[in-house]
Amino acid sequence: DWSMAQFREAEVQRIRSQVGSGRVVCGLSGGVDSSVAALLIHEAIGDQLTCIFVDHGLLRKDEAKQVVELFRGHYNIPLVHVDASERFLRALDGISDPEAKRKIIGRLFIEVFEEESEKLEDAQFLAQGTLYPDVIESVSATGGPSVTIKSHHNVGGLPETMKLKLVEPLRMLFKDEVRELGRELGLPETFVGRHPFPGPGLAIRIPGEITQEKLEILRAADAIYLEEIRNAGLYDTIWQAFAVLLPVRTVGVMGDARTYDFVCALRAVTSTDGMTADYFDFSHDFLGRTATRIINEVRGINRVVYDITSKPPGTIEWE
Ligand code: XMP
Repeated sequence: DWSMAQFREAEVQRIRSQVGSGRVVCGLSGGVDSSVAALLIHEAIGDQLTCIFVDHGLLRKDEAKQVVELFRGHYNIPLVHVDASERFLRALDGISDPEAKRKIIGRLFIEVFEEESEKLEDAQFLAQGTLYPDVIESVSATGGPSVTIKSHHNVGGLPETMKLKLVEPLRMLFKDEVRELGRELGLPETFVGRHPFPGPGLAIRIPGEITQEKLEILRAADAIYLEEIRNAGLYDTIWQAFAVLLPVRTVGVMGDARTYDFVCALRAVTSTDGMTADYFDFSHDFLGRTATRIINEVRGINRVVYDITSKPPGTIEWE
């Protein structure tokens, strides 16, 4: 009779025998997978684990703070928080092409992570929150030609050239099992039930060039949208919801003045695996309320539209 409690216990033993008295580094992203991997490994080997959180400055509002508070503050896990946001912004300066953004972010992410892990001189192991579908995918990816629509940079995917031995405690689990294990380990529901978030973060939710100003505008709009979704009790019904800041300014009126500001698109989909998706059928009341709040509260946006494209033919993200 297989249960998550047994899996947890068996995996803790396995990690202990794999790692011995060695030191492990684990990249934290704020997502469910790396969070659960870190907690499980910490349970097994305590402070032999150090987490590295590379903050690329492309996260949602308050997300970096929540990661640091939970892991360093609440769990007392040794955590290196690298604020590399300026480096990422500089590298992305003038870049509009979605794949170019992904490549730049992926490369720089690895570079920063390696720099930090090299400072931890005695680290011999690298922990990753690789799931079973990732294992299968990387096996089948070598099996023949395939069409790549988007190169999925995932912050979990670090190069094997790092000379560190891999610790992958979730490699036999599916996403829903990881969530169950997270609950078993006492990870807060706000982390366990979190919507998927792409590795390149808000960079691929700002079509065109990324600037600090646009990031701030997008973060503010996105936070209002998600707050309304939570207040309406819809968060767990939706697979993913987010705001996109379009590189288009349109004319509006505010009081008796003319405005000329950005358009914000809202996206929400239901899905079981992200491979196909339907747009979420919000009430007009919800959409109207949310649009009004965004336009009134976020300087820089004067128009809000709702994306009713399903996947296929659309993709979930806009880039
Ligand atoms: P699309 O847009 O291809 O997205 O329908 C499917 C799922 O993948 C996520 N996504 C990414 N995740 N790096 C990631 O780690 C990426 O570059 C990336 N692009 C898309 C997307 O959020 C959705 O969950």
